[in-house]
Amino acid sequence: MPVPGPGYSITVRVDAPPSASAAGDLTTAVGKVGGVLTAFDVVGSDAEAIVVDITANVASADHAEDITSALNALPGVKVRKISDRTFLMHLGGKLEVSPKVALKNRDDLSRAYTPGVARVCQAIAANPEDARRLTIKRNTVAVVTDGSAVLGLGNIGPGAALPVMEGKAALFKKFADVDAWPVCLDTQDTEEIIRTVRALAPVYAGINLEDIAAPRCFEIEARLREQLDIPVFHDDQHGTAIVVMAALRNALRVVEKNIENCRVVVSGVGAAGSAIIRLLLRRDPADVIAVDIDGIVHTGRENMDPNLQWVAEHTNADGMTGTLHDALAGADVFIGVSAPNLFGAEQVATMNDDPVVFALANPDPEIDPLEAQQHAAVVATGRSDYPNQINNVLAFPGVFRGLLDAHARDIDDEMLLAAANAVADVVDDRLNASFIVPSVFDNAVAPAVAEAVKSTAVQATGEKQAK
Ligand SMILES: NC(=O)c1ccc[n+]([C@@H]2O[C@H](COP(=O)([O-])OP(=O)(O)OC[C@H]3O[C@@H](n4cnc5c(N)ncnc54)[C@H](O)[C@@H]3O)[C@@H](O)[C@H]2O)c1
Repeated sequence: MPVPGPGYSITVRVDAPPSASAAGDLTTAVGKVGGVLTAFDVVGSDAEAIVVDITANVASADHAEDITSALNALPGVKVRKISDRTFLMHLGGKLEVSPKVALKNRDDLSRAYTPGVARVCQAIAANPEDARRLTIKRNTVAVVTDGSAVLGLGNIGPGAALPVMEGKAALFKKFADVDAWPVCLDTQDTEEIIRTVRALAPVYAGINLEDIAAPRCFEIEARLREQLDIPVFHDDQHGTAIVVMAALRNALRVVEKNIENCRVVVSGVGAAGSAIIRLLLRRDPADVIAVDIDGIVHTGRENMDPNLQWVAEHTNADGMTGTLHDALAGADVFIGVSAPNLFGAEQVATMNDDPVVFALANPDPEIDPLEAQQHAAVVATGRSDYPNQINNVLAFPGVFRGLLDAHARDIDDEMLLAAANAVADVVDDRLNASFIVPSVFDNAVAPAVAEAVKSTAVQATGEKQAK
């Protein structure tokens, strides 16, 4: 059941009688039907009536109607109009291009554009690396999608994906001063996506792939990494893996366990699950058991794609078969990036002592977090209304800031792990079972991640050059 939140906020303009009790009647009516009042503004008044803007968080369109009906039902009250504040925020989009140079007179024009700009073009033609010094390439990232796996909405296409990509670009700027730009491609053909991204790469110093469905996303990322001389990062994979690894490191500190002694169950072997498993294996857990919609992944299973085959070969040392519930018995950690409501408190009870449960399926987790808490020592979700929110925004802005500052040409697991450690370290001595990751608004996160990624990237470049 959705709960009222700021993602669905309405402002209702009403005419009300100018009585002393009007404000109380209006706010009580909103509260009685479950609206969460966030603002009450009297915007007009005369002897006959007051005009009031009532702003409230609601749960759904039906809930918004309940609120307007409740207001309309009050004696002498008339609803004039309803505005959806989320839609108002999106009018005309969330981004704009703004020149960094003054264009006030003929001299300015001659330098910023022709004829002066021609010499800059020639300099880049002679030395392409100068593009990072003399153009927007220095600080610009493409946020590329084909619209095939957008949020929890599925394949809604590139146009409908644009508000998400604009939002992503806005987060890049806000948290790490990276100039990111949405590139929503009107194709879902792997070869065409690769060709197109390669063709537009000259403008960008990094490619952030976004909301591209598995398994296509694996091939697109791998091939672009081979072909481009700028880092390519699929946020749904690696952004998630970074934050999960950070959260796991701190969760294991809370329960005083060493990962080398832990059996970790990962439910979901799609974009997020595969990347989590790959990074997790770099930390040498006692074992990883991967589970997908067809049960436990093991080498004997038939009809596995190359991604599942790789996972089968690198996990499940004892060849366990069966269901998620079988996998959970005796496990130390559960990480879910799969589907809602897959198990309950009784399965958590079968896990090892002080289990860690990360139920990250959005919007409804694999287990109700309140149920998980009955037996788990640490619980995390992807939701903002519970403690320990696993949110990619803790990772991607700082990751790209670090990559751009290092002039990195690629990205590797060492950089992802450095980013994860940096996120985990920000928590420091504030650590407890309800605080294993920092707040997304903690200003220390992006610079710490950027510095960790930059120094790891610079070191990697130095080692490559030394070879
Ligand atoms: N920060 C976060 O909290 C965060 C980050 C990434 C993904 N997610 C969530 O994780 C989920 C998966 O995302 P994705 O991009 O990897 O999707 P995906 O479609 O690429 O992969 C989904 C995986 O879940 C498996 N699955 C589906 N139903 C299952 C079931 N009943 N039991 C076990 N496994 C099942 C599928 O077989 C597949 O392996 C989504 O709900 C997404 O919102 C959360």
